[in-house]
Amino acid sequence: LALPVVDTALEQRLVARLARVEELLKAHCEARTPYVTRAAAHLMMAGGKRFRPLLVMLAAETGTHPDAPEVDTAACVVELTHVASLYHDDVMDEADLRRGADTANARWDNHVAILTGDFLFGRSSELTADLGPDAVRIQARTFNRLVEGQILETVEPGPDEDALQHYLEVVAGKTGSLIATSARYGAMFGGARPEVVEALSAYGEIVGMSFQLSDDILDIASASEESGKTPGTDLREGVPTLPVLMAQASTDPADARLLELLSQPLTDDALHAEALDLLRDHPAMDQARGYVLSEAARAKKLLEVLDPGPVRTALESFADAVATRSA
Ligand code: FPP
Ligand code: MG
Ligand code: MG
Repeated sequence: LALPVVDTALEQRLVARLARVEELLKAHCEARTPYVTRAAAHLMMAGGKRFRPLLVMLAAETGTHPDAPEVDTAACVVELTHVASLYHDDVMDEADLRRGADTANARWDNHVAILTGDFLFGRSSELTADLGPDAVRIQARTFNRLVEGQILETVEPGPDEDALQHYLEVVAGKTGSLIATSARYGAMFGGARPEVVEALSAYGEIVGMSFQLSDDILDIASASEESGKTPGTDLREGVPTLPVLMAQASTDPADARLLELLSQPLTDDALHAEALDLLRDHPAMDQARGYVLSEAARAKKLLEVLDPGPVRTALESFADAVATRSA
């Protein structure tokens, strides 16, 4: 498991359940046409962390009937939605590698990638219908937030808009929304009290955003051996990230060189390396880490609606693990 669950019985239950969801996911990649099955299974089976299904299951443990079959269905719905959005994301980002495998757009082409994403959205929608009209409404709203976040990412902040605030809005939409929904579905279908459902959904939104913001920090801080990615990719692509936005807010004259470097695309290897070195030693890195840690604390505070016990502890370590992750 990707999180330190202290309670062995709980951990065994989650592991067994994740294996069941894995089977369900595989079955839902099956299409009439073998070509479509291959394209759908390509990324689905490439070894994701299953972060969202795990959160659905953990959240369900806060309710009176965590074993309800709807919980497995919901876990499947959120992962199908997530993977579908990745097919589209890799087209938009022109990415050629994900989870160590060729992306669908690289392996086939953009048309296949977009339509395979749509196919998985179809599968996810069909399963959502089994969960009833409330779930369909939640799913539709989540979908809208995902799309709006993704579109907002391609739009520069307005002249009067704070760049950091704009960025946090993007992250809330493209990552916070579906993770909030994962926690909401788990609590809802596991039979949690309404105030727990709301608290866990807010918790999921914060944890989801922290997941993305930790990724930003890792992109600068970690060597490729740890992260499995090329360091400074966001920087090279000119993608704004939390540490960069925090450094850009500096008025310290000593930061003049860094700010000059950050004001241009960093495609030149030497300039890219220089900016990466300056950033790694910059106080903005600790400021960004501090922000993520304070967000984790805010998420954990929301768990106070729960009775103390192994489930609350596991959700607390889930938030901590996200904020301090090293890969
Ligand atoms: C990955 O971000 C992308 C997302 C978290 C969301 C993508 C959402 C869409 C493409 C919109 C969904 C479309 C529909 C029709 C619902 P990233 O590119 O920053 O991360 P990466 O490094 O994993 O690619
Ligand atoms: Mg991407
Ligand atoms: Mg993207």
